Amino acid sequence: MERDATRPNLSLEELDRQVFFHPNTDLRAFAAGELGDPAIVEGAEGIELRLRDGRRMVDAGAGLLCVNAGYGRAEIADAIAAQARKLAFYHAHSGHASEVAIRLTDRVLKLAPPGMRSVFWGLQGSDAHETMIKIAWYANNALGRPRKKKIIARHRAYHGLTIMAGSLSGLPQFHRHFDLPRGPVLHVGAPYFYRREDQAMDEEGYAEACAEELDRTIRAEGHDTVAAFIAEPMMSSGGMLPPPAGYWRRIQEVLRRHDVMLMVDEVVTGFGRLGTWFGSSLHGIDADMISISKGLTSGYLPLAGTIVSERVWAMLEEGSRRFGPFHHGFTYVAHPVCAAAAMANIDILEREDLPGNAARTGAWFLERLRARFGGIDIVGDIRGQGLLAAIELVADRATRARFPEELRVGQRVSRAAREEGLVIRALPEGDIVAFSPALAVTPAQLDDILDRLLRAVERVRAGLSPAA
Ligand SMILES: Cc1ncc(COP(=O)(O)O)c(C=O)c1O
Repeated sequence: MERDATRPNLSLEELDRQVFFHPNTDLRAFAAGELGDPAIVEGAEGIELRLRDGRRMVDAGAGLLCVNAGYGRAEIADAIAAQARKLAFYHAHSGHASEVAIRLTDRVLKLAPPGMRSVFWGLQGSDAHETMIKIAWYANNALGRPRKKKIIARHRAYHGLTIMAGSLSGLPQFHRHFDLPRGPVLHVGAPYFYRREDQAMDEEGYAEACAEELDRTIRAEGHDTVAAFIAEPMMSSGGMLPPPAGYWRRIQEVLRRHDVMLMVDEVVTGFGRLGTWFGSSLHGIDADMISISKGLTSGYLPLAGTIVSERVWAMLEEGSRRFGPFHHGFTYVAHPVCAAAAMANIDILEREDLPGNAARTGAWFLERLRARFGGIDIVGDIRGQGLLAAIELVADRATRARFPEELRVGQRVSRAAREEGLVIRALPEGDIVAFSPALAVTPAQLDDILDRLLRAVERVRAGLSPAA
């Protein structure tokens, strides 16, 4: 399309193509209109999106795994408006604060696993991880261990896309062409039980093998050079991988042995997604730091936090003694309007027991997924925990052989689902289709999602068969 600087009489779709810089999008193809008309969302209610062209779509992803309370909650909107009228902004530097931010901090600490001391507020998952890394480095400087700086993450992990968070992420497409990862970051294997090399291994044995790999890596690098290990309680965007039995116990034994901090990414799992307020509680994880974002405000406004434990707090105080002020922060740390959105959102999560609903409905959903999709020959694995679930599509169930990448089978299913009025996400690596609906979702809505999905999968399957 020709660029016209005056842009007279352009439709919104054309204007979008001309001016808007979309993340994770083929920019040239989009600008040229080759990706079809953009999906401009005009409104949403519950789990349903209303597109500008009049179509209605069921959102089985809660936006980007964030709209835990569901769309259209007037009470969050009202809380945002009231706070904006009362105090739209004041900063939190040099000891300043707002009442709502202090009360939110106290509330989050009461919901968090035991042993947590304080929260450093930011705006999104990525910056929470930048903060975590800086805290770990600073703490080791304060303790006189300047060499203890390496961070170990996992292949397939997704921790964000700023320079260090993007380095922690373990998916090659987010590294290629951006000169990432930057050091000192290393990756060990993801706990991908379905694709374990030795299929004779049980979950406990596989968990042991994962822990041994971590142990070997720390020994090879030298424990006095490794600051921290970062992981989600259950990996989400990297494949929806519930940890195998015994994984977290064994991993923590290794970390304790080598005095390596445990940084837990609860950007997705925090605030009810796995059926508990925090995934760390579900999996018996004793974290040094926990990141939170998404479900904290259900996406009504951006907000993230790095929760630090008593142990880490003691190191930070040692830093204050040695170095003076902690020179880290952003303009919008503890933004009062975002904090008000979080307070209203947590009211809803508590009042409606949405973590409990995620546990109950999630278990039911996984059973239904298995019952309805387990017999389809291109469905290799069905897995999940709470309201995170996925089906993995394969060319051969017996050998677990993948489809050739260029067939983009996961993308095809997600596209076919859209034609059925259903938004589901094909994950970035492998043909894995994921579900993460709002935590208020009902069994009837989930049955409707499964009906639409089944039609989409059958259609793609028919298109793949040699006879077609
Ligand atoms: C587990 C996890 N961590 C971190 C992030 C990064 O969060 P953000 O995109 O808000 O920076 C995401 C985003 O999807 C995520 O899923």
